[in-house]
Amino acid sequence: MSSSVEAARSRTRFRSRRTSQFTESVIREMTRLALEHDAVNLAQGFPDFGAPEEIKRAAQDAIAADFNQYAITWGAKPFRNAIAEKYRKWHGIEYDPEREITVCCGATEGMIATLLAVTNPGDEIIIFEPYYENYGPDALLCDAQHKLVRLRPPDWTFDPDELRRAFSSKTKAIILNSPNNPTGKVFTRPELEVIANLCQEFDTLAITDEIYEHILYDGASHIPIATLPGMRERTVLVNSLSKTYSVTGWRVGFVLAAPDLTDSIRKVHDFLTVGAAAPLQQAGVAALNLPDSYYEKLSAEYQKRRDFLSEQLEQAGFRCYRPKGAYYIMTDISAFGFADDLSFVRHLIENVGVAAVPGSSFFSDSNAGAALIRFCFCKKYETLEKAGSRLRRI
Ligand SMILES: Cc1ncc(COP(=O)(O)O)c(C=O)c1O
Repeated sequence: MSSSVEAARSRTRFRSRRTSQFTESVIREMTRLALEHDAVNLAQGFPDFGAPEEIKRAAQDAIAADFNQYAITWGAKPFRNAIAEKYRKWHGIEYDPEREITVCCGATEGMIATLLAVTNPGDEIIIFEPYYENYGPDALLCDAQHKLVRLRPPDWTFDPDELRRAFSSKTKAIILNSPNNPTGKVFTRPELEVIANLCQEFDTLAITDEIYEHILYDGASHIPIATLPGMRERTVLVNSLSKTYSVTGWRVGFVLAAPDLTDSIRKVHDFLTVGAAAPLQQAGVAALNLPDSYYEKLSAEYQKRRDFLSEQLEQAGFRCYRPKGAYYIMTDISAFGFADDLSFVRHLIENVGVAAVPGSSFFSDSNAGAALIRFCFCKKYETLEKAGSRLRRI
C-alpha cells in the first residue's frame, strides 16, 4: 500500500463518527482570521480591558498562599459557600453547597457535563434558535437529537404552539440561555411560565445557561427559571465567572442542581477534568463578594458601549436589533447586497479590517442566518471607535 493511501485510510480510521458531525467553532475561527488580517476583533465575546483589581489580587494571593494543588473535585468549599450565599441573596433560592453545587471548568464544561450526565442516546433536547454554537455539538457528543424552536426578530419571541409541538415523551431537556447570546433577548416571566409549564407536563429538565445574568439593559431583569413554582427540582442552572467578572480565560464555572442530578453531574465532571483551577476558585470568593454597586456599574457601562456601537453600526448602514442583555448586537445586512453572511464577513475582515460572526453559525440551516451578522461590544472605547471608523469604509 502506498504511503499516501495508508495516510488517507488512517485519517478516517481514527476519526470518530461523533466528531465527523460538526465543524470547529466558527467564532474562534473568526478570531484566528482577525489576527491574520490585523482586523479589529468584534467576533469573539471576550473583554479587551482589565479584570477588577481586587479579584486579580485575590488570585495572586491564592497562588502565593499555595493553593496550588487539586481542590476538592466538586469545588473548594469556600467557593461553593460563596455561590450558595450569592444565590440566596440575589434570587432568594437556597442551594446546599455540599450536595447541590459543582464547580467546573467554565459554563462550557458545566453544559456538556450536564448533558452527558442526564441524556441517553436518542433522547431529544430542545434548543431555541438562533443559539450559542456550542449547544449543537454538545447534543451530538451525547448522541442526543436536538429539536429547534425559532426565536423571531425584532423581539426574538417564540411561538408557544411551535414550542409545544417540539415537546414529546422523548424530550429529556430544554436548553434555555437568558440573557441570550446571540440575540440579546431576556426571557420574560410570562415566557418562562410557558416553558416551565411544558417542562412539568412533559417531565422535562430545564438546563439553563445564565452566564450573562448581570449584563442587562433598559431596566430588564433576569429571572432564573428555577425560581418558578415546580421548577427548583427540575432545573440545572449553569453559570460562570467568565462574563460577569471579565475573566473568560480563568475557566471557572458552576452547576446548581438537586442532589440526584448533582450526583451524576459530579461523576462526569470528575472524570472529564477533575476540577477547575484551585487558586482561581479562591479568587472566585472575592469575586462573588463584590458589592452590589459592581453589578450596577457593569450593566450601566455595557449599556453605554451598546449604544455607542449601535450608533456606529447604524451610521455604517446596518440594521441593529438592540439587545436587552448580554454583550452582542445582531444586525441585518440585507442593505449591503452581498450574497450571504459568510462572504460579507470575509469582506469585512479582509478589506475593511473588522471581524464579526456570520449569522449562519447560530442556525442549523445556514440560509436562516444568511442576512445576519453578530458584533460584540465588550471592548474598550478605543477598540469600538477604531471599528466604527473602519466600518464607514464598507
Ligand atoms: C451563552 C454562552 N454560554 C457559555 C459561554 C462560555 O462560557 P465559559 O467561558 O464559562 O465556558 C459563552 C461564551 O461566549 C456564551 O456566550
